[in-house]
Order: sequence, then structure tokens, then C-alpha cells
Amino acid sequence: MKLTDKVALITGSSQGIGAAIAQRFAAEGARVVINYNSNPDKAKEVLANIEAKGGTGFIVGANLGVVADVQRLISDSIAHFGRLDILVNNAGIEIHAPFWEATEADYDKVLAVNAKGVFFATQEMAKHLMATKRPGKIINMSSVHEDLPFPNFTAYCMSKGALKMMARNLSIELAPFGITINNIAPGAIQTPINTALLNDPVKLTALLGQIPLKRLGTTDDVANLAVFLASADSDYVTGSTYLVDGGLTWNYQEQ
Ligand code: BGC
Repeated sequence: MKLTDKVALITGSSQGIGAAIAQRFAAEGARVVINYNSNPDKAKEVLANIEAKGGTGFIVGANLGVVADVQRLISDSIAHFGRLDILVNNAGIEIHAPFWEATEADYDKVLAVNAKGVFFATQEMAKHLMATKRPGKIINMSSVHEDLPFPNFTAYCMSKGALKMMARNLSIELAPFGITINNIAPGAIQTPINTALLNDPVKLTALLGQIPLKRLGTTDDVANLAVFLASADSDYVTGSTYLVDGGLTWNYQEQ
């Protein structure tokens, strides 16, 4: 087991990629904090799966777009398990709209969860690790769209571009404290964030045509990478982004 005795908080872990990571981390021996925003029942299902396999978890509700919630999420996690070793900034949202129709409320919502929440969760985590003089690992769920354009999702792309620079900056600033930070950049993964796409056979077929490995990713594909980045196997790795996209990003082909 790669994460024995570690305590990990995974934001947005009641469903999708976050739920898979929480379950994998628990299977690797970590005690995990499961966070939900709006659906406590799904968080309870994730916890029940973990406990059925002999793992340990704790559920905290918090909206990552609200800094006071983020601070409470970190402090409740530390109060419950005594410490945190790993933070996975997984919670994220996207809102489809042509650029000229995007509203201020949509912009604020996307940037609040995807960028501000990550910034302040990481800040709280760094302060905790520095105060207790312990190393730690921070993993951000970015996207292939920290680099690749995604028309109709400009605010989303801006938030993921922000995570790219955040990881690069903090790899330098937090290194003296033994804290590493890396991004995972998933491509098209079968999760609730992709419900519209999964229900649109035309768009889905077009997308599959662009993925060299010819399938959507699974949440386990992403969780496998997260285990590596959370474990001692990645101790010399910081400031990097890891694509898990079936080859999507580099598949430009001139016909
Ligand atoms: C987005 C998905 C999209 C995928 C590939 C992800 O970041 O959340 O909606 O399908 O990138 O474009």
C-alpha cells in the first residue's frame, strides 16, 4: 500500500474523479476526508464503499467557492484526523456559453470554485504543514484546457490556466518546506461534468475520433496517477502537469 498512515482531503469527492480518488487513496491505506457541496447522500455512498473495504473516512460539506467554507473544511479535517498530509484540489465546475453570452454570475461561480477555492485551500494546507513542520503533497485537478482552447468555456479555461501558473509558482515557494505541488490534466473522462457530451452521440463520436486511444478515460485512469503524485514515489516531482487524456492534446492532424 502506497499511502499507509497518510491523511488526505479530496475536495469534490462525492462523485466523479474525486470519488474515485477518495476510494483509491483509502484502498492504499490513507484516511480520507470526503467533501461534498450539494449532495450529502452521494458522499455517504462513497464513505460506505470505503468502510465496506475496511477503510476510514470522514465527510465534510463545504462550498469551495466560499473562502470561509474552505477554511472550515481544512480545520474540520485537521480537528477530526489530527493532521493532513495530502490535499487534492479536485472540485471544479464548467458552464457552457458562447463568450458573448456568459454572465458575470457564471464567470464568478467558475472562477470562485476552480481558482479562488484552490488558492485558499492550498494556502490553509501550506500554513498547516509549515506550522507542524511536516512535508506534504498538493495535487490540483486541472485539465487539458490549462493549455488547449475549449471554445464556449473561456472562464473555465482561464481558471485552469491559473492552476498551471499556481503550480509553477508554488513549486518554488513551497519547496523549502518539503511541500510539492503538481497538476493532473484529464482529457475527456466519463463523469457527471460530461453528462451533456455523453448524451450527445454526434459530439461524442466526433470527440472519440480525436482521441488516439479511442475511448473516454475512466475515473480510475485519473485516480491511478493521483496515487503516484500523493505517494513517496513522486518525492522529486513538483511544478509539473501530467496529462491523462488518451493522447488527445497532441493529436493535431493536418488532413
Ligand atoms: C472538461 C470536459 C471536456 C474535456 C475534454 C475537461 O476539462 O471538463 O467537459 O470534455 O476537458 O475536452
